Amino acid sequence: MKASLLKIIIIQCLTSHWSAGARTNILTVEQPSFLKVTVGKSATFNCSFVTVSPTFTLKWTLCCGDNTPLEKHLVYKDRVILGPSYKEITIINLSEQDTEKYCCHVQTGHGEEGNGNGTLLQVVPDIKYPAGPGIGGCTGNLWLLMEILRLVLLTFIIILLSIIVKKLS
Ligand SMILES: *[C@@H]1O[C@H](CO)[C@@H](O)[C@H](O)[C@H]1NC(C)=O
Ligand SMILES: *[C@@H]1O[C@H](CO)[C@@H](O)[C@H](O)[C@H]1NC(C)=O
Ligand SMILES: *[C@@H]1O[C@H](CO)[C@@H](O)[C@H](O)[C@H]1NC(C)=O
Repeated sequence: MKASLLKIIIIQCLTSHWSAGARTNILTVEQPSFLKVTVGKSATFNCSFVTVSPTFTLKWTLCCGDNTPLEKHLVYKDRVILGPSYKEITIINLSEQDTEKYCCHVQTGHGEEGNGNGTLLQVVPDIKYPAGPGIGGCTGNLWLLMEILRLVLLTFIIILLSIIVKKLS
């Protein structure tokens, strides 16, 4: 289900383009170029630009050619949190399939327009070191030490008992 949805999104990415308005001035839009996050965690990043315009519209899309706002995609709709002016975006509960380029598009009330170069988000698996129960590693050594101690103590008690028995008889 999720995989097929992503395929649809990718096709949309390849076929649609962010259409530029007729008379616009280029706005420099900045966003982090790369971000590495672990599966299940969330990623927060910003889009920034300088304008004198008090009004602007900002949207985040999946790959820079897509037109659809990220939060409108089914696979993302419940996982995208946008800040008050949409400048800051948080994507929660990331999976490896979310490894994608996320782009910021801005249009200002002064007719300026700009696209960020995209933030490549890399979602990597959470590597857990196997904690073996018992043998091997530190716990294994501790277990062995306890076992030796137990045997030594047992032998000592047997010897002591046999001495007592001999003395009594
Ligand atoms: C975006 O990429 C272009 C081409 O590589 C580069 O000239 C431009 O400076 C970049 N923009 C930003 C804001 O980093
Ligand atoms: C995004 O920008 C806001 C306002 O400048 C700042 O408070 C916040 O820490 C930034 N977030 C990140 C992830 O850089
Ligand atoms: C996170 O995503 C996984 C699938 O990728 C899902 O099974 C799980 O329920 C999600 N967790 C939350 C807290 O949304």
